[in-house]
Amino acid sequence: MSKKNYAVTIAGGGSTFTPGIALMLLEERDRFPVNKVTFYDNNAERQEIVAKACEIYFHENAPEVEFSYTTDPETAFTGTDFVLAHIRVGLYAMRELDEKIPLKYGCVGQETCGAGGIAYGMRSIGGVIEILDYMEKYSPNAWMLNYSNPAAIVAEACRVLRPNSRIINICDMPIDLVDKMSRMCGIKDRRELQYSYYGLNHFGWWSKIYDKDGNDLMPQIKEHMAKNGYLDGIEHEAGKEQHVEESWIHTFGKAKDVYAVDPETIPNTYLKYYLYPDYVVETSDPNYTRANEVMDGREKKVFGACRDIIAKGTAKDGGFEPDVHANYIVDLACALAENTLERFLLIVPNDGAVPNFDPTAMVEVPCIVGSNGFEKICQGPIPQFQKGLMEQQVSVEKLVVQAWVEGSYQKLWQALTLSKTIPSASVAKQILDELIEANKDFWPELK
Ligand code: NAD
Ligand code: G6P
Ligand code: MN
Repeated sequence: MSKKNYAVTIAGGGSTFTPGIALMLLEERDRFPVNKVTFYDNNAERQEIVAKACEIYFHENAPEVEFSYTTDPETAFTGTDFVLAHIRVGLYAMRELDEKIPLKYGCVGQETCGAGGIAYGMRSIGGVIEILDYMEKYSPNAWMLNYSNPAAIVAEACRVLRPNSRIINICDMPIDLVDKMSRMCGIKDRRELQYSYYGLNHFGWWSKIYDKDGNDLMPQIKEHMAKNGYLDGIEHEAGKEQHVEESWIHTFGKAKDVYAVDPETIPNTYLKYYLYPDYVVETSDPNYTRANEVMDGREKKVFGACRDIIAKGTAKDGGFEPDVHANYIVDLACALAENTLERFLLIVPNDGAVPNFDPTAMVEVPCIVGSNGFEKICQGPIPQFQKGLMEQQVSVEKLVVQAWVEGSYQKLWQALTLSKTIPSASVAKQILDELIEANKDFWPELK
């Protein structure tokens, strides 16, 4: 695709992550030349605050970049090369219910895992498919790089409903963890680590990790995990924007116990919700969940900084920080644009990458990325423990997508019943009935 100038659309322009990505696009223009950036959102009021602040930033730092924001799909998606998407259908208000409703029944209440993740999946599928369709209508050769959660369910929905679309679903959690692992080993740049990884999104394991000279880093990382989980003492360091609050620090510490269950591999932090659901529920506050923490923290901070920039009319000391999250999606766009053939962890159809696992599953595995898309790196057969867990979880994700497509109450009840975070079909039914009521503006009607 190599061009002199790329046009990028950020879908979910009003997201708390938009300023970071916008800044990263500017920072990386030497290797990924962007001359047009358009924000798109279906909430004009929310987007305007972020967009007006970014507009000032762009004018001050890169006046040659054509910047605009819109709620009109044709304007947003015509003539674009990359759609970077991060939408949240139902906003934080619905995330709060996703987290609080299951907790009422003694079950994990989490953004992307268990009943909360299922509820969010039922809202996200339509929103993400809509954006993909806009992109294909107005810019059929563009790529959509999607962060919108729950990525596992969204990816399965894309596989089923739009199998030939140019969409790549991604997650920043493993990238942040690789950053931590490189620090454990005294390596500055996470890109120097070469690794094998397999799993579903928010449900995976590293099986090999090497430095750039091929030295095995697993012994050092295992020693650290056994003692500290992912804690490395710099969680509160200034300049780190993401994964810094107390609840994240607990998650990084709990990874020690997650690691103990299979000391042969290094686990994703999200496995705590499936391996220690009782502990998660005991340590959750049913009246103040992560959604409340984010609304009181990141949302206030980002929107406060945007309002400040708008009021002052300058972004000279604007306080936005591009981080690993922004870095990863821009690196991926760059790889597709400039054929860099670098390795990225992507959520892709299995099709043999994990040979002893469902070929139709959407798995998270390393891939080589260039201008013709991605090529998976085969991870070989996986052990019984991981295979068993993944079979159960992938069935949950597939049943959610089937329930959405068919409007099937029965299948959604089965999905909840099968989730490792829910103890019985009766509890699953109670949670489902309350979620249906809460989501009536967002879910298809279930029969
Ligand atoms: P946010 O609520 O601040 O932003 C989401 C934006 O999407 C809002 O401005 C909202 O109006 C907009 N939106 C909702 N539905 C839309 C639609 N149908 N069309 C267009 N715009 C729509 O949320 P946030 O906390 O910034 O997170 C954004 C998304 O990114 C979430 O889905 C979150 O889970 C995801 N995320 C994913 C990863 C990952 O690892 N994959 C990492 C971080 C965030
Ligand atoms: C990680 C995950 C994302 C998730 C985010 C939640 O980055 O990879 O998928 O959305 O954490 O963060 P939050 O700060 O919104 O709880
Ligand atoms: Mn993620």
